[in-house]
Amino acid sequence: MTLHKIAQLGHPILRQKARLLTDEELAEPAMQTLIDDMIETMRDAQGAGLAAPQIHQSVQVCMVEMDPERNRRYPYCPHIPLTVLVNPRFTVLSTADERFENFEGCLSLPNLRGRVVREARIRLQAWDRRGQALDFIAEGLSAGTYQHELDHLNGVLFVDRVCDSRSLCTTEHFDRFEKERFVGEAQRLVARYGS
Ligand code: NI
Repeated sequence: MTLHKIAQLGHPILRQKARLLTDEELAEPAMQTLIDDMIETMRDAQGAGLAAPQIHQSVQVCMVEMDPERNRRYPYCPHIPLTVLVNPRFTVLSTADERFENFEGCLSLPNLRGRVVREARIRLQAWDRRGQALDFIAEGLSAGTYQHELDHLNGVLFVDRVCDSRSLCTTEHFDRFEKERFVGEAQRLVARYGS
């Protein structure tokens, strides 16, 4: 397996809409190796997720994984088992008053965090890495993580969705000035949705 370099803000591939994969393409050994590499790259970089454009591949593959015991970037997030999504799409289930402010970061925008409005309940439909249909509901903070990764497949970065640019801060200043308040918000969200 190979660790990949992560595309950084300003690289045009982060702004392209990634193309759909056919089931034949997904089954190719090179694509399966790419998915293994993405998992390794995400874990090495302490990401909560990763999308293929972030390793310079403009295809509709992304993944989410959150192990708060191991993750130094988001230790307050609920557990999400490794989930690989191919050709994913989502529909919104939450009502307008259920939207919440997530405090997001991104491996392609190092040392930056900001507040982003996300849907609290979504239905996700995709293939898994073997081409089997996935259809499930994500709620709470986890729903925000999935929306962030699916945005990458459409060329959208979290800074495009920041609700108030004054919330932008470095990681150090997130920890110093914002984390305590956000962890309280996150805990209320997890208490309501269980994730
Ligand atoms: Ni990201």
